Amino acid sequence: MNEGVSAPLALDADSMEARQQFLAMLPRDQHALADQRLALAGNDLIDALTALYGHTEGFSSWLSTLFAQLGRQASLRPAELVALDMEREKQPDWFVRQRMLGYSAYVDRFGGDLRGVAGRIGHLQALGVDYLHLLPFLRARSGDSDGGFAVASFEEVEPALGSMDDLQALARALRTAGISLCSDLVLNHVADEHAWARAAIAGDPAMRAFFHVFPDRTLPDAYESTVGQVFPQTAPGNFTRVPGLGWTWTTFYPYQWDLNYAHPPVFAAMATALLGLANRGVEVFRLDSAPFLWKRLGTACVNEPEVHLLLAALRACTRLVAPGVLLKAEAIMPTTEVTRYFGRGALSGRECHLAYHTGLMAAAWAGLAEGSAQLPQQVIADTPANPPCTGWITYVRCHDDIVWNVLREQVESSGSVFRERIGAAADFLEGRTPGSFARGAAFQSSGPGAAVHGSNGMTASLVGLPDDPLATPDPAALRRFALLHALALWVGAVPLLYMGDELGQANNAASADAGLIAWDGRWLQRPALSLAALEALAAGKGVPAATFATLRALTAARRDPRWPAGHGAGVVEQPGKTLLVLHRGDDARAVFHFGEAPLDLDLEALGMGHGWSDAWASGAPAAAADDNTRRLAPWGALWRMRD
Ligand code: GLC
Repeated sequence: MNEGVSAPLALDADSMEARQQFLAMLPRDQHALADQRLALAGNDLIDALTALYGHTEGFSSWLSTLFAQLGRQASLRPAELVALDMEREKQPDWFVRQRMLGYSAYVDRFGGDLRGVAGRIGHLQALGVDYLHLLPFLRARSGDSDGGFAVASFEEVEPALGSMDDLQALARALRTAGISLCSDLVLNHVADEHAWARAAIAGDPAMRAFFHVFPDRTLPDAYESTVGQVFPQTAPGNFTRVPGLGWTWTTFYPYQWDLNYAHPPVFAAMATALLGLANRGVEVFRLDSAPFLWKRLGTACVNEPEVHLLLAALRACTRLVAPGVLLKAEAIMPTTEVTRYFGRGALSGRECHLAYHTGLMAAAWAGLAEGSAQLPQQVIADTPANPPCTGWITYVRCHDDIVWNVLREQVESSGSVFRERIGAAADFLEGRTPGSFARGAAFQSSGPGAAVHGSNGMTASLVGLPDDPLATPDPAALRRFALLHALALWVGAVPLLYMGDELGQANNAASADAGLIAWDGRWLQRPALSLAALEALAAGKGVPAATFATLRALTAARRDPRWPAGHGAGVVEQPGKTLLVLHRGDDARAVFHFGEAPLDLDLEALGMGHGWSDAWASGAPAAAADDNTRRLAPWGALWRMRD
């Protein structure tokens, strides 16, 4: 399989027929616009699908049926969303230019249900948020559902959270408030309770073909010899024996069945699911577990070339039907792999608009633990420039663990032994190192010295902020909080705040969640929004007032008209173990100090002296003797821009 797609096909019989099918679903007055979109994206879609499925039996008729389904979704697109599409087609870099600020939350933990989330729009606006990622809210399997990531229906909302009408109403209310709604689309798997899985168990061969099912362990064993493990403790192995069916591929939990994307109807079904939600008003899709979509014997079964073709094909579907929609890759992979999700070669800029910068997130935490800027610096140096109209999602924490494996490349290329160096950083964040300020916990590793898998904890607890919202925060802990957020906000196109971090909420200590946390430690960073913290914020007191003000100051600085939105972050050469110096274009530079001692800076030597001024500074920087020197407090950070 080659990695790129072939040159655009001439209008052969297949593509003529596909176009006809698409247009036939639309009223005449929409044909001109549809024709333009077909001219732009139709060939991309056909090329990607031909590369993936051209050899399969009945491909031509499957293709024309797919185009008819896409035409139907286009015909169902509400007028207000069609208008949004047209606006965004004229400004394809809208999400990079607007300097968006994201926020990510579980529906129940943030607002109780979808209507309750609408009631929190004021809170989001006060923070300057214009992008809201709601973690899975579709109907999940009953019982354990991996936080909703085991989806039982793409057409229903989880009943406790509301209905499809509530979703549509929320999306509209958010849009009116200038906030784009982002939803997960769990691409890799469905719940064992999904109708497709149930039909497969009941013996329906068409539905059985939706999954990877093996009669015995021969092939599973062969695959297992090269495939890794996501949850080695709670869900060891990658296959689950399902009575009456056989060994089924389950990368994550045994109740999450991987879909077989080598089977064309799976692609059609998931594209339809995506567009159905887009027509409800979802503007951004977080493509969950994207790297795992294609399996190939003898490989790790991640990041295969076909994964990129599948994502490019999905993107072409949105370009045809819902061009205002953004696709975001959830690819928890080393930095050099993740950058491929923006598309490369013939797919450059034709795959995902956004991708999580997981490497930077993990490197920042390692840097904090080590008191060194080396890993963040290396990760940024290893981050190539983005294709036009794509951008990084940067973040400090999320609902998952801090995944350490994404740093292997940088750690090993610097001559360190991964397990030793990252094991030490993880120990520090998990509070096992004497003198550590952090209160995190290990995830899926069997204790000190064992394989390093991940670390859990809320930002506040990891940087040493107190549990009690009304306590006076230690200024040093607050600077550590600011340092990590300042880095994420400096580098990302769309920085994503994690619910509770704006209030400096500590680790989840709810007794009702103790069982969940004991089973899957990621619930440590999934508390309910603290009402006590909201009250403290309203009263301007304690930790919440301090963390909220820090984030407000950073987001305000990012909205400074001088902010160089069109540039990515790059490293400025600078010796010194603890200092990271970054630029964005020629007119903006920042310093991030990962050390625990004060640091004297020569601003002129750093290229940000005379003629530059502070755009943001953490804590209270000591008065400078003159414009060219500055004493950075421990864990201090500073953004400067040319006047
Ligand atoms: C993603 C989610 C994670 C979930 C996994 C399986 O990585 O972020 O929470 O467990 O997918 O769906």
